[in-house]
Amino acid sequence: MASSKLFLILVFVLLVFKNSGTARVEAARAFFVFGDSLVDNGNNNYLATTARADSPPYGIDYPTHRPTGRFSNGLNIPDFISQEIGSESTLPYLSPQLTGQRLLVGANFASAGIGILNDTGIQFVNIIRMYQQLQYFEEYQRRVSALIGAARTRQLVNRALILITVGGNDFVNNYYLVPYSARSRQYSLPDYVKYLISEYKKLLMSLYDLGARRVLVTGTGPLGCVPAELALRSRNGECAAELQRAATLFNPQLTQMLRELNSNYGSDVFIAANTQLMHNDFVTNPQAYGFITSKVACCGQGPYNGLGLCTVASNLCANRDQYAFWDPFHPSERANGVIVQQIKTGSTEYMYPMNLSTIMALDSKI
Ligand SMILES: *[C@@H]1O[C@H](CO)[C@@H](O)[C@H](O)[C@H]1NC(C)=O
Ligand SMILES: *[C@@H]1O[C@H](CO)[C@@H](O)[C@H](O)[C@H]1NC(C)=O
Repeated sequence: MASSKLFLILVFVLLVFKNSGTARVEAARAFFVFGDSLVDNGNNNYLATTARADSPPYGIDYPTHRPTGRFSNGLNIPDFISQEIGSESTLPYLSPQLTGQRLLVGANFASAGIGILNDTGIQFVNIIRMYQQLQYFEEYQRRVSALIGAARTRQLVNRALILITVGGNDFVNNYYLVPYSARSRQYSLPDYVKYLISEYKKLLMSLYDLGARRVLVTGTGPLGCVPAELALRSRNGECAAELQRAATLFNPQLTQMLRELNSNYGSDVFIAANTQLMHNDFVTNPQAYGFITSKVACCGQGPYNGLGLCTVASNLCANRDQYAFWDPFHPSERANGVIVQQIKTGSTEYMYPMNLSTIMALDSKI
């Protein structure tokens, strides 16, 4: 009797202790997101563009069961990362609700359709290109300074976790958008990749100058294996070779560039997340992850449900958790969760030089 009471008290004390620990970390760490549709939480809903996910069945498995602008049936990668760091999801920067104390949680600047280059996604007209996402980040810091002062704002930004996902559209919605595209006439693929990496490096250096000190940088997925490319470019269901070649050239050079930046800054500011490998795992063996297919999108039409957009008129699968791809380009909520588990605990092959759980343990000591 006495010992079980003691045990309960012990458990209670441990729980209180544990919660006070996470609460402290929570208050200390903001989260900022930059990039394209893989990480857009709804900014494009506020823009005059066709690149938006603001109608059903998008959001069908979101807590509200309504479309939010996320290119997912439910949560996306930033949402799962927010859960890991113990905070609420970031609001889109353009949301009118992003004011007051909510600003201290962070912000999501991502915009579907954008790329590293300004001329990527021109067909979507009004989207927030990378240089403008960075300008908004500056504006954000001015707004927060007015709230809590410049020194505390600096600290909030320095201690924040940042995620950036960009690059896939520079191939899909630029170089390979049409045959004989301007960029493909200008550059061979290897030279184009070099150019992208050099422009990306400039963007990351600007991010550093704006105060970023812990940045998860994802590579591109296996671009040729998404249902859209299987429908457009593949005869027998094999991944489209040219886009696979693009991803295979781009990702290792990205990791190398991040290493160089870290060595210049003398600190592991930039962390490479090998999303190509993470995706490949369930593309090559979907059953191991509980998916019945990684080729057919849950929502879409035509071969592999890979043609056109996901709309109310599309085929829609009954159980979204069984599909690696939600629409012709974007992973399902469950696949996003699998990716974030790898970001959290993956080995150095997946997360270089360290994973999110190591980052959180390191940064909580500062
Ligand atoms: C994109 O456009 C902005 C604004 O015009 C410019 O400052 C920036 O250098 C451009 N970026 C590239 C990669 O050309
Ligand atoms: C990643 O996370 C696990 C714990 O979840 C840890 O054991 C491992 O050492 C970490 N790996 C790296 C490279 O940080």
